[in-house]
Amino acid sequence: MLLKVSPRGPLQGEIRVPGDKSISHRAVIAGALACGETVVENFLKGRDCLSTIACLRQVAGDIFRFDGPQLIINGRGREGWREPDDVLDCGNSGTTIRLLTGLLVAQPFFSVLTGDASLRRRPMGRVAAPLRQMGAQIDGREEGRFAPLAIRGSKLHGAEILLPVASAQVKSACILAALFAEGVTAIEEPAPSRDHTERMLAAAGARIEKEGRRITVYPGKELKPLHLRVPGDISSAAFFLVAASIVPGSHVVIKDVGLNPTRDGIVRVLRQMGADIAVKNLREEAGEPVGDLEVRAASLRGTEVRGEIIPTLIDEIPVLAVAALAAQGETVVRDAEELRVKESDRISMMVRELSKMGAAIEELPDGFVVKGGKPLKGAEVESHGDHRIAMALAVAGLIAERETVVHGAEWIDISYPGFAQDLQRLQEG
Ligand code: S3P
Repeated sequence: MLLKVSPRGPLQGEIRVPGDKSISHRAVIAGALACGETVVENFLKGRDCLSTIACLRQVAGDIFRFDGPQLIINGRGREGWREPDDVLDCGNSGTTIRLLTGLLVAQPFFSVLTGDASLRRRPMGRVAAPLRQMGAQIDGREEGRFAPLAIRGSKLHGAEILLPVASAQVKSACILAALFAEGVTAIEEPAPSRDHTERMLAAAGARIEKEGRRITVYPGKELKPLHLRVPGDISSAAFFLVAASIVPGSHVVIKDVGLNPTRDGIVRVLRQMGADIAVKNLREEAGEPVGDLEVRAASLRGTEVRGEIIPTLIDEIPVLAVAALAAQGETVVRDAEELRVKESDRISMMVRELSKMGAAIEELPDGFVVKGGKPLKGAEVESHGDHRIAMALAVAGLIAERETVVHGAEWIDISYPGFAQDLQRLQEG
């Protein structure tokens, strides 16, 4: 599918972006673990979260149903779970495969997890290694470094786990396994990553304690069903935060966006670059901070982004590169080597595609350098099967001369069905 974008003047209006992808995945898992009816409002019906539902349906039975915009889960607890009679297909979703690996290693049956070509290239050793410390039996291609992963569920024991990468997927896999282990598990991460799992499981009654970067999980608590409203995904909002900042004359309000401090790095960095972003109506919903973001076009300046802030904006770096193109001066992004093992190698792909538009962007092993202020020209660009690359390139198209055509735009449905329509609506003001 093609997405054609042309500069058509300021972006104006109010939108709601779809529900948060990370929180939607976790709501499915928490609901399947609990006994009773879980209600999830504003669930993200993107392809990734639907993969989590499809896999859990094979394990937990037909407990999921949609009622308009709500997902209803009739959880029966783990007692109702059974050995899946086929391979579990996680599609394109790293969150699905890693979180479900953590969940399934502790269940008394065999299961196999796989996914599409992109997912089968992504590192799984990072999740297999800490889970094995708890006694998990995981095999797979190259000894479990790549999917398909074969899991022989077994009795786990608590462990002291030091994670070498700041990954919420790996941390969450360990937490989920630890819920069913014998004894206490402590997990320490090198830098704070998103903490939706800890928040949601604690809200459902799990005993999870946090002290700095150390998370302690005490097993044995029954999970109770939740009624929750998923906030808008800040990672989806980020495309319009950047778009409205760089297209002169724009004024956009994005309602009900999740503003968890482990996710809001993009707002902090854009402000540091001179962006005009106001937070309104800040409140807490289901244990997560939520607010409206009002953004007006502003002249941006280059900046340096590195270190501990990186995990709080990791998925927004492709569109941050686009903000950097519109900024005066140089922007340097470092310590972001994790981008190379996302749905695509996001460093190489952004450098390659933005260069086709005439950008001055140079690849680094762990990031890139952008020389901003150079005019962009419309081009034929490619998503490389990566939803966030597709949307970031569409935003670049808003400030390029003539038309930009994004090939492979069907991948946008992974996280933001309706992106093209929202963009068009804001362009029409
Ligand atoms: C996610 C964690 C991050 C992020 C991904 C979603 C999650 O990945 O990039 O889009 O829901 O836990 P890592 O855990 O690999 O950093």
